[in-house]
Amino acid sequence: MITLKKKFSDLNNFIFKKRVIVRVDLNLPIHNQEFTDLTRLEKIKPTIEFLLKNKAKILLISHFGRPKGEIKNELSLKNVSSEINKVLEKEIFFYDEAIKNIKIDKIDKIFEKNDIILLENLRFYPEEEKNDDSFSKKLASLGDIYVNECFSVSHRSHSSIVGIPKHLPSFPGMLLENEIFNLKNLITSNNLSSSVALFGGAKISTKLKIIEFYLQKFGKVIIGGAMANTFLKVSGIEIGRSLYEKSMLKKAKEILDQFSQKKLHLPLDAIVIDKKKLKPEVKKIDEISKNEKILDIGPQTRMSFYNIIVEADKLLWNGPLGLYEEKPFDEGTSFVAKAVKDNNNKNFFSVAGGGDTISVLKQCDAFNFFSFISTGGGAFLEFIEGGGLPGLDSLNE
Ligand code: 3PG
Repeated sequence: MITLKKKFSDLNNFIFKKRVIVRVDLNLPIHNQEFTDLTRLEKIKPTIEFLLKNKAKILLISHFGRPKGEIKNELSLKNVSSEINKVLEKEIFFYDEAIKNIKIDKIDKIFEKNDIILLENLRFYPEEEKNDDSFSKKLASLGDIYVNECFSVSHRSHSSIVGIPKHLPSFPGMLLENEIFNLKNLITSNNLSSSVALFGGAKISTKLKIIEFYLQKFGKVIIGGAMANTFLKVSGIEIGRSLYEKSMLKKAKEILDQFSQKKLHLPLDAIVIDKKKLKPEVKKIDEISKNEKILDIGPQTRMSFYNIIVEADKLLWNGPLGLYEEKPFDEGTSFVAKAVKDNNNKNFFSVAGGGDTISVLKQCDAFNFFSFISTGGGAFLEFIEGGGLPGLDSLNE
């Protein structure tokens, strides 16, 4: 389990008039060319404000999407810069010069009139993902201090995450510290028998290790969303045309054989849609027919998941319980999320994170029910498995 040796507050004495390279995650979710959620940006604001108040000059670096080492206009960070201006309430300077050609004199010149510079998408350069040392050195040469403020990318061994800290004094950002503090709180406790982990979303394959980890560690594990269908199918239940993962049937069977129904909770009923009828219907889980498709958990399941969560001491929530992108199939998630608000246990601690989780909880107006919401997708899942992350290790070296 990772413990950060340095603190953000250790920076206080060093930043006056210094150039601080801040690695952030501006990989904001986008749909039909509109940003659908600005949480990652909103959460870095306190760090930026602190640095500005202490008269630092800020060089923001980030990736956006997966351009695979090629310049793609639709993935230019220029597209994000107006959102940054709005959220930070400050004009930033977007500097689109190729990173390899940037001269420090030019950076200083821009800093004469601007406090924040944003460089172009780091992943336009193949060197970033290869963790090429000369690329790391080039980036490091543009600043005096490095701050990792991107927990959500700290599972990647890329130049801007693990390379730069080899060449500059490096510190965690406030958000990074906050993520570690809260996520550690979730998994470090002597008695986790009243702790509950909820997993939703489409695929077991991407979350298998973590589901197994929490089946061993927590008192109860709830599974909903399309990933529950694989478990249902292997138990001999007809799931009709519902999504499931064929390659995971054997593994799902092993898990079902190993853990009792008191530990592993699956849907008892479902909202299904028939190809011809096109009208959602409630079906008991053993009454689904061949033409039907499961799109959400049913009322009995909602109540059962609600009852488990409303009694829990700790909750880890990852993923939606239905096809939340299409209404009304977000209603199962929305109902169960109310248990987080209604839990009266005074020590109740709830954390949500990973993949689509922020989007679905925002859509259900449940975002503020949780003690902490992580900005991490893959990083969140890797971290809560207890193993640490390369980006955090590199700050400790
Ligand atoms: C994320 O969206 O989870 C982070 O920005 C990391 O992106 P990646 O999975 O493309 O590395």
